[in-house]
Amino acid sequence: MDQSDVGTDLEKILLSEEDLGKKLDEMAAKIDEDYAGRDLLLVGVLKGAVMVMADLSRRLHHPITMDWMAVSSYGSGTKSSGVVRILKDLDSDLSGRNVLIVEDIIDSGLTLSWLVSNLRSRGPASVEIAAMLRKPDAAQTDVDVKYLGYDIPNEFVVGYGLDYAENYRNLPFVATLAPHVYSG
Ligand code: XMP
Ligand code: MG
Repeated sequence: MDQSDVGTDLEKILLSEEDLGKKLDEMAAKIDEDYAGRDLLLVGVLKGAVMVMADLSRRLHHPITMDWMAVSSYGSGTKSSGVVRILKDLDSDLSGRNVLIVEDIIDSGLTLSWLVSNLRSRGPASVEIAAMLRKPDAAQTDVDVKYLGYDIPNEFVVGYGLDYAENYRNLPFVATLAPHVYSG
């Protein structure tokens, strides 16, 4: 699956690998500056955030530690319910830590706002968010994102960690799906 699938399974490339890389450079530079001299724990949300985490953390000069959480906010459908279940919790104690949540996408915002208050209740020094994508037209709650890649239209997207039925996560770019893929 690559650029040659555009027009068959994929409809259109929204963000190229170069677009993503450029934004990651900017985000990493800001994070380095903001956290200078302070401890930093990156918390990735599985599985979608693996690409952002790998690419963003490699661009940081700042020393970090990394931890992962898996949550489930969706039932069987593609709409967030706001009811979040922890599938895998952090290994780290958050007391006194500066936590930066690393996410692939903010859609309704329900998952992240739940996650922020959950992590804040664990006594960290700070909790902030870095997300590669956001769909402003899908927002159901305000989420304060400190480091944002791109705002995108309210369409289902895949690639760069994002899946449709667990497929397409490994695409190095972000694309919309051709309707025949999800309509059967
Ligand atoms: P909410 O709506 O709570 O959901 O902000 C965020 C999570 O939902 C997933 N998500 C998507 N996954 N294409 C995907 O492959 C999309 O367009 C999409 N929109 C939301 C994603 O796991 C995210 O963390
Ligand atoms: Mg996700």
